[in-house]
Amino acid sequence: MKAIIPAAGLGTRLRPLTFARPKPVLRVAGQPIICHALRTLSDAGIVDVGIVVSGLTHRAIESVVQGVEGVNITFIHQDEMLGLGHAVKMARSWVGQDDFCVYLGDNLFEHGVGSFIEAFHARRAEAVVALVEVEDPSAFGVAVLGDGGRITRLVEKPRVPPSNLAVAGMYCFSPAIFDVLETLAPSPRGEYEITDAIAGLIEGRGGVYGERVTGWWKDTGRPQDLIDANRLLLEPLRTCVLGDVTGSTLTGRVVVELGAEVRGSTIMGPVLIAAGARVENAYLGPFTSVGRGSVIRNTEIECSVIDENAEVRDVNARLQGCLIGVGARVIGHGSIPRVHRFTLSDASVLELGC
Ligand code: G1P
Repeated sequence: MKAIIPAAGLGTRLRPLTFARPKPVLRVAGQPIICHALRTLSDAGIVDVGIVVSGLTHRAIESVVQGVEGVNITFIHQDEMLGLGHAVKMARSWVGQDDFCVYLGDNLFEHGVGSFIEAFHARRAEAVVALVEVEDPSAFGVAVLGDGGRITRLVEKPRVPPSNLAVAGMYCFSPAIFDVLETLAPSPRGEYEITDAIAGLIEGRGGVYGERVTGWWKDTGRPQDLIDANRLLLEPLRTCVLGDVTGSTLTGRVVVELGAEVRGSTIMGPVLIAAGARVENAYLGPFTSVGRGSVIRNTEIECSVIDENAEVRDVNARLQGCLIGVGARVIGHGSIPRVHRFTLSDASVLELGC
């Protein structure tokens, strides 16, 4: 089975990060998001992957996926931003007459995507859609399930959701979907929605089934999602210290890659310090990843993602929940007055500088 990853879009909800680089190349837990997606597909037995790119995303994506092993990548062009349905349509000749899957490369699944592919084959379906229960599904495609796991209704980002089952970003299709895509009209937001194409299959009485996601699922659409995804991906980290560590205390699960340096610091895992990074006289708290070549000095930071070649130093405060882009610099001058004195009685709650 081949897989398509749509990756032509601008990722506007992740601005300002995506002003500089497209969403698929932003790093979480030390890897560009699209590399996590490729590994997930490869783990599910998929070798041939078509990445749908635009002129705006092609080069940046090509540069990060080159080193990924186990997959053959083909770039497919989508130069008009006309939605996911349109992206899939662009891949028609590459897919040919085979079954295929579409994996929205900004989605992460704790247990991978193999179960959806298995369900698709077992059911001899025309489509299988990954579904997940969420509190407010109005920002997603929403499905209504009927008997035997069949999807009876599918709507894109409804104001009043007909169920709490959101469409997670993994779909398996027979080539029948292409014929529906050819006849599709754009949605009110001017896009060819993959959700509408699947709704077309349902109308034509095709076998469209929902398959529940097990374990966690994360759609990395907004900045807070990147912090969450980083935390989820670092959770199973195993300690491995190959870099140069001196005068430091490492607690919990910490990875210090070969070529990284840690001096006079306190590290509380899970923390990932990539090759060529330098951490000096610093505190790194849980769920922090420090990218290649970055420098953290005289600073406390936790639950944050520091991408490559960034510098954070002399910050006279604890940084928490930060996303720091490639080559960004955060420099403190140690002069911020921070004096607090208080007497707190029982059951008080005090939050400072959150
Ligand atoms: C897309 C799909 C939506 C799905 C979501 C999952 O939305 O259109 O049906 O629920 O991905 O991440 P987007 O995130 O592109 O707005």
